Amino acid sequence: MEVVILDEPAALAALAADAIGALLRDRPDAVLGLATGSSPLAVYDELAARFERGELSFAAARGFTLDEYVGLPADHPERYRTVIDRDLVSRVDFGPGAVSGPDGSASDIPEACAAYDRAIATAGGVDLQILGIGTDGHIAFNEPGSSFASRTRIKTLTRQTRLDNARFFDGNVDAVPTHCLTQGLGTIMEARHIVLLATGTAKAEAVHQLVEGPVSALWPATILQHHRHVTVLLDEAAASRLQLGQYYRETYAGKPDWQGI
Ligand code: F6R
Repeated sequence: MEVVILDEPAALAALAADAIGALLRDRPDAVLGLATGSSPLAVYDELAARFERGELSFAAARGFTLDEYVGLPADHPERYRTVIDRDLVSRVDFGPGAVSGPDGSASDIPEACAAYDRAIATAGGVDLQILGIGTDGHIAFNEPGSSFASRTRIKTLTRQTRLDNARFFDGNVDAVPTHCLTQGLGTIMEARHIVLLATGTAKAEAVHQLVEGPVSALWPATILQHHRHVTVLLDEAAASRLQLGQYYRETYAGKPDWQGI
């Protein structure tokens, strides 16, 4: 696991965008795993800017989102399918139907979840997965207690996650759905490169557990310690509880330029 601590959100976003740009140059039909929420927004802004400047193209790429609320109407602005269209897809040149998400309004939820895992596998698996992390240590919506082997399935959101996400629902926690469909931890672990972004002190404890805590279902993100290629991009606030923060800073400062993330 590589930990990069930089105090400029734009510099963190640029690193993630560099990795995506390099991947797309190498494999224009790469498969991207796309998180929603606040954490990836600067990355999506940077990708949109690079696309505008003609520096990269998503025309042959495909994308899979991580999760979806259950029970939001198709035209709800906070449906993750709508959010990813707004934040990234509509700003670049993905082909029609190239980005999909779990179907939170499916009548047969187990089949919709199994179909989603099959679709990711049929596409060849995710080459680069962008992730955020919840204050309770969730990745995607794998809340504490999630099985490390889990596949895409329905989950109940914790009260903490619903409180955290109330900001997207006019501050009204009761408007945040109680259930979601989410890629499982087992599904996410199959991505070939995982780039997790976290900023702000609210994430500091979850980040400490992710990087330095014991691997435990109580902090689901800790399963990433078992992945062979994870990059954790942090601002100083999110890094503020790391025991080995100074070591990570020195390691990154001394890294050869050719290495990338
Ligand atoms: C969103 C997702 C969640 C968020 C996490 C952090 O698709 O899977 O795990 O990444 O809740 O959310 P933000 O980035 O809004 O703090």
